[in-house]
Amino acid sequence: LSTTIATASGYVTDVGYSATFTPSLSPDWLDLTTLISGYAPPARRDGFAFCELACGRGLTSAVLAATYPDGAFHVVDFMRDHIAYAASFADRAGIGNLTLHAADFATAAQLELPRFNYIVAHGAYSWIDAQAREDLRNFIDCHLAPDGLVCLSYNAMPGWTADLPLQRLVATFAQGTSGDSIVRFAAAEAALRRLSAAGVPALNGSPMFAHLLTTQRDRLPTSYFAHEYLAQAWQPLYVTDVRADLATIGLCPIGSAILANNFDAYVLRDAQRDALAEIEDDDLRELVRDCMLMTRFRCDVFSRNAVRVTERAQRREILRRRFALVLPESLVSYSMRTEAGTLRFDNPLARDIVAALSDRPRAPRQLGLPTTDLVANILALVSARIIRPVNGTDSPVDNLNEALAELDSEAIPLPFCALSCGTALRLEPALHRHLRGHGQLPRRLRAWPDFLARATRATRQDRQEDGNRVATKR
Ligand SMILES: C[S@@+](CC[C@H](N)C(=O)[O-])C[C@H]1O[C@@H](n2cnc3c(N)ncnc32)[C@H](O)[C@@H]1O
Repeated sequence: LSTTIATASGYVTDVGYSATFTPSLSPDWLDLTTLISGYAPPARRDGFAFCELACGRGLTSAVLAATYPDGAFHVVDFMRDHIAYAASFADRAGIGNLTLHAADFATAAQLELPRFNYIVAHGAYSWIDAQAREDLRNFIDCHLAPDGLVCLSYNAMPGWTADLPLQRLVATFAQGTSGDSIVRFAAAEAALRRLSAAGVPALNGSPMFAHLLTTQRDRLPTSYFAHEYLAQAWQPLYVTDVRADLATIGLCPIGSAILANNFDAYVLRDAQRDALAEIEDDDLRELVRDCMLMTRFRCDVFSRNAVRVTERAQRREILRRRFALVLPESLVSYSMRTEAGTLRFDNPLARDIVAALSDRPRAPRQLGLPTTDLVANILALVSARIIRPVNGTDSPVDNLNEALAELDSEAIPLPFCALSCGTALRLEPALHRHLRGHGQLPRRLRAWPDFLARATRATRQDRQEDGNRVATKR
C-alpha cells in the first residue's frame, strides 16, 4: 500500500525537523558580510527587529534573542509542532524578546509586524514550491525596513548535479512505500544500499550518497534526511534565478554569509580569476563562478537600498566591532582549505590576535596590535571560522545553556553551548557528556572546558561606543 507523503507547499510536514544553531544568521555576522562587501550595515542604535522565516524549531533565533536583548525577534514557521517546541524552549530559557508565529509565509505577510532590519530564511527556499517562494518574497516586500538585510540560503546548482539522481531515487522509492516520512526514508535508503551494491553508476557517482553512507547517517536522525530529500518541491537553484526572483521586489545582492566566498583570492585560482575578470555582467560572472567552484549551497545577503561605504570607514568599522575566538587557542591551525588549495596565514600578527582574543571577545582596535595588515588577518581568521563577529556586549547565558542541555537528542542531535557574546558552538558529544558530569574527557578535548567556562561568563563590557554609525559614500 502506498499513500502520498504529507506535504504543504511541496514541503514534508508529517515529522519534525532536527534543530540546530546557524551562526551566520546573527546580526553581527550579517553586518560584517555587508561591510566586507563595501556597504553600510543597518543602523541599529535604538535596538533592532529581526525575523527568521522557516525557523524550524527556532533554536537559532532563541539563542540570538537571549544574547541580543536589545533586539525584537520574530520567528515564522507553518509547522505547529516546531513553533510549540520553540515556545516551550523560550519559556524554559526565560527568553522574553522572541515572538512566535505558527503561520505560513502568506498568512505572516498579512500580520502587523515591525519593519525588520534583518530577515533570514535558512534552508527553505530550494525546498518549497513556486507559490511558497513567492509568498516568502511577498513577506520580505511587506516587512523589510528600508536599510534592512535579507539572508537567503539554498541548495545551489551546479554543485548538486551529480546528486540529482540520488534525490529522485530516494523521493520516488519513498513515495512507493507507506508510513511516515521517517519510515519511508529508511525504506528508500535500504533499497538504495541494495541497488548500489549491484552497480548503479548514477548512485555510486553521487558524492552525497557516499557522504550519507559513510559519515552523515550515524550523526543525524532520520528526520533530518526526510526533510532534506523527500520534499516534492526539492530543487537546487541557480544563482541567476534566485537573483531574478529577488529583483522583482527590488532586492540587490550584496555578498555571501559564507565569508570566505567574498574573497576571490581565497577560493579561486589565478587563471579562474583572470577568466572571470573578462565577464562584465555581475550575474553572469557569479553564475560562472559557481560553475568554477561547483557551488552546492549559497547563503546570499541582499538589500534594497544598500549604501556604499568609503574604504576608510569600512576599515574603521571592522576594527571597532567585537570578534570572539571560537576554539581554544592551542587548537587553532593557521590555514584553511578552499577550492583553490590551502590558504596559509601563519604569521605573528594572526597569532597575536588569537592570543589576545583567548581571554574574551574584543574589538581589534583594542588589542594594542600594529594596524598594518590587522584587517587582512582578521578577515582571514574570520573566513577560516577561527573567530566570529559577535555582539558588542555580553549577556548571561546560564539559563539558556541549562535549557539547551536538557533538549532531547532526537530533536537536537548535535548539542550546542551558547556563548555570552551572542553565538553558540556545537559540542562534540563526549565533551557535552563530560560537562554534564558523565564520562571521561578524551585527551584531544582537554582544552575545551576552560575555554567554555571563560566564553560563557558574561564580562563587563567593551561597548561598541559609537553605535553603528558608518561614513557613507554615494
Ligand atoms: C529544512 S527546515 C529549516 C529549518 C531551519 N531554518 C533550520 O535551518 O534549521 C525548513 C522549514 O521551513 C518550514 N516551511 C516550509 N514551507 C513553509 C511555508 N510555506 N511557510 C512557513 N514555513 C514553511 C518548514 O516547516 C521547516 O521548518
